[in-house]
Amino acid sequence: MKEFNTERLLLRELQQQDANDIYEYCSMKDVIDMIGMRLHSSIEITYKYISHEQKKSETLAIVNRKLNKVIGTVSLRKQYNDSNLDIRLISCIINPKYWGKGYAPEAIQQIIMYAFEELNVHKLLGGHYSFNLQSSAVNRKLGFVYEGTQREVYLYNGKLVDAVEYGMLERDYMRVSQNWK
Ligand SMILES: CC(C)(COP(=O)(O)OP(=O)(O)OC[C@H]1O[C@@H](n2cnc3c(N)ncnc32)[C@H](O)[C@@H]1OP(=O)(O)O)[C@@H](O)C(=O)NCCC(=O)NCCS
Repeated sequence: MKEFNTERLLLRELQQQDANDIYEYCSMKDVIDMIGMRLHSSIEITYKYISHEQKKSETLAIVNRKLNKVIGTVSLRKQYNDSNLDIRLISCIINPKYWGKGYAPEAIQQIIMYAFEELNVHKLLGGHYSFNLQSSAVNRKLGFVYEGTQREVYLYNGKLVDAVEYGMLERDYMRVSQNWK
């Protein structure tokens, strides 16, 4: 993917030197469980994760320019479907030290603009476990359209949980992006 600069952030490909910053939050079970990622129980897993993501080129590091630190990642992943439509799933994770400062919406907004204006995707998807109110707030702020809840499709800490699904079509983007700064 390309590089992007936003007001406070640089979005760029992951680098092996990012391992310590990424390990800081990917080693927190409570955090990575919310997104269904594998726990980084050692920094070696973080190095492997970075190599894997570098090959796929679907994930960008979110660098706080002022701190010169990777504070999270944002991904734009192709979803294969029988009609060959370009549909992509956006996901994001932010180090909990930096939650509540609007970094996720700032990064995702940039990726949405890129997806519709440069890649000409047909549709973007977003989603979260039903109890994840933080992610719900981000989707709402960005103007994703709630499309439904799939009941009991994931196991979270041994309990069945529902998945809340969102979508954004180009016409939604044209409407909601008018409210973005
Ligand atoms: C979801 C997530 C990416 C949001 O990132 P963020 O940069 O904190 O986003 P925002 O600053 O817009 O905050 C979103 C909401 O989180 C909540 N929040 C803020 N600080 C919080 C904190 N310290 N603890 C718990 N919730 C908090 C608020 O409800 C906020 O919404 P509001 O601004 O309308 O009040 C982040 O919480 C995260 O990484 N969660 C774990 C991974 C995940 O769930 N990813 C989403 C699924 S793809």
